[in-house]
Amino acid sequence: MLIRKSKPHDIRSSEITPSGAYMDRRRFLATGAAGAGAVLFSGLFMPTVGRTAPLSGVIKGSYTVDEPLTDKEAATTYNNFYELGTGKDDPVENAHYLKTDPWTVAIDGLVKGAGTYSFEDLIHPHKLEERVYRLRCVEAWSMVIPWVGVPLADVIRRLEPQGSAKYVAFETLVDPVRMPGQVRNALPWPYREGLRMDEALHPLTMLAVGMYGESMLPQNGAPIRLVVPWKYGFKSIKSIVRISFTEEQPPATWNMQNPREYGFYSNVNPDVDHPRWSQAKERRIGEFFKRPTLPFNGYGEDVASLYAGMDMTKNY
Ligand code: MTE
Repeated sequence: MLIRKSKPHDIRSSEITPSGAYMDRRRFLATGAAGAGAVLFSGLFMPTVGRTAPLSGVIKGSYTVDEPLTDKEAATTYNNFYELGTGKDDPVENAHYLKTDPWTVAIDGLVKGAGTYSFEDLIHPHKLEERVYRLRCVEAWSMVIPWVGVPLADVIRRLEPQGSAKYVAFETLVDPVRMPGQVRNALPWPYREGLRMDEALHPLTMLAVGMYGESMLPQNGAPIRLVVPWKYGFKSIKSIVRISFTEEQPPATWNMQNPREYGFYSNVNPDVDHPRWSQAKERRIGEFFKRPTLPFNGYGEDVASLYAGMDMTKNY
């Protein structure tokens, strides 16, 4: 297998970079941040399958959870990623199909920095942080993961959305060769998700490029995914290829698929049961006993104010 050793000059410029974003990029280059990013990202160029590269220069982020981490083996072999199959062990088995180098992310809609960016260009001007977050799946299991990434807010601010942009929409790759689960219509492809602008700008919301100090594995959403820890796991869309800034609330896959069961907001709420099961408790992967689920997955102090005045039983 070819393992590219990347040097700073290996970093590609944005493939089609609009003038606004290009100016921004030059600004970051001028600060030297991109040079640092080249080092941090050296491992992410590897066209790996089932292999990760350590991420260096990662700072400890301000958010953490004082609980044992989920076993890495479990977090990388028990997954939901319908593009790689609907079974929990399908994503790891099919991971080798998902080639992620090169990888571009289209930025469009109501934003000054519209264009197509290599994912490295989108991320590397920012400092990589490790943050330990709980993630609660709608299926009542949960995990505690040390994610590595950047606050989505930093990337959004650099892209300069227009004042009329009220939402941020995300899409996953459509490519049945690299995502063999897309041969079947288990879900309408592409997988889509969306956040209100204030949710997207919230400091907890993260664009993650790794876990456990290493680059992201395909089954966990390589090379770049969202992590929104106060929402059910399905909002944390994997393998993102498009980020759009919109005035209207964007479509979200599970909400489109079954609006009675899955709302747009999908904030973790032990008081609102899924129509087919209770959400009051959850089982940490690797533990036997269930534990109570916390409102907003335990992040209420940080995020409850975003929903002041909203009826969370209607806006589920
Ligand atoms: N993103 C895409 N593109 N496709 C998916 O099927 N599944 C979601 C979310 N992101 C999914 C996705 C669900 S239901 C969960 S619980 C989390 O990814 C699981 O993330 P993990 O496998 O890294 O634990």
